[in-house]
Amino acid sequence: MQYASSLINPGLGASWARRLARAATETAFGYGVDQGLPFLREQICRYVAKSRGIQTTPDRVIVVSGTRQALALCSRVLVDEGETIAIEDPQYFGTRQQFAAYGARVLPMPTDNEGLICRALPTAAPRLILVTPAHQFPSGTVMSLQRRLQLLNYAGARFCWIVEDDYDGGLHHDSQPLSPMRALDRNDRVIHVGTLSRVMFGSLRFGYMIVPEALRDDFVHAKNLADFSFSAIDQLALAHFMDDGGFERHIRFVHKELRVRHRAMIEGLRCYAGERVKIAGAHSGMHLVGWMPDYDHDEVETPLASAADCGLGLYSIARFYLVRPSTPGLVLGYAALSVTQIRDALQLFGECLNTIDARARRLGSNIDDC
Ligand SMILES: Cc1ncc(COP(=O)(O)O)c(C=O)c1O
Repeated sequence: MQYASSLINPGLGASWARRLARAATETAFGYGVDQGLPFLREQICRYVAKSRGIQTTPDRVIVVSGTRQALALCSRVLVDEGETIAIEDPQYFGTRQQFAAYGARVLPMPTDNEGLICRALPTAAPRLILVTPAHQFPSGTVMSLQRRLQLLNYAGARFCWIVEDDYDGGLHHDSQPLSPMRALDRNDRVIHVGTLSRVMFGSLRFGYMIVPEALRDDFVHAKNLADFSFSAIDQLALAHFMDDGGFERHIRFVHKELRVRHRAMIEGLRCYAGERVKIAGAHSGMHLVGWMPDYDHDEVETPLASAADCGLGLYSIARFYLVRPSTPGLVLGYAALSVTQIRDALQLFGECLNTIDARARRLGSNIDDC
């Protein structure tokens, strides 16, 4: 799956190259500041205040190399070998692997259509709980306000930490986003992690953490041990991009275009898959989930390879779970495809479904008239 917004905005490469060239002439050649360039941290504060409603100050921001490094620093600072951490099930492989590599005992927590089920959390609190409230990865559920508050109460009462992975930067299509956990947090228990891998491009390797006061020094120290700091030229280029309005224009462009692709995706699925696929998690982000309750896992997974031979990338959601879900489903990314490509891909997908149905002798499910 390709998610980067550079695939949506073809002008991004040239804009970025201009900022990089300027930054290269303005950057001092010594080592950077561990925590990140102060000018960039100020820009990040403005960005999260405007786009996510998070009020913070530059001393609480740490510039990192993407979410991966943020998770590695959380493991290093917070988790001792054998300690328990809780993650949502399903989840991003990177999360699970990162904590497991540091010796954490990873506890999968069930999720439903309101996000992580808080009443399933253990009485003895884990060291930290990692969530993706804005757009659960990969199911796409938006965590309800009630669940967010329950989770904050749980963490506040038991002194455990919450890591909020805000990986798709609040790209909402049809409703106002709920406040991030960091903005609702009254006890300073939330570590907010943002990345530009989706809203710009993954090879930039840029991310940021907004950390609780009590953890700030430990995180800055851990960052220093890891790599001194993120590339100073990229930091300055990004600070200029944010300061001169280019970044905001890029996000606006991406958002507008993404909505068009999102609409094409929903219409195409309705047209070619009809009732056979139940759409979920489509309110924001760059992917949605198609649940297929009338099929079994083998029926859905066996044709994935032949679909790939036809150039169609279909990904089973089951592989993102530690505890296999009862219903099969597919994670369907659309950000990297034009409207025509989306329509062609979904037509092919409809043909795949027809083949599965014909094999299983399901009657009346073919859709001819789109
Ligand atoms: C849930 C989740 N978090 C974070 C990321 C991005 O990670 P990074 O910032 O290291 O590129 C992804 C990328 O697919 C993701 O799916």
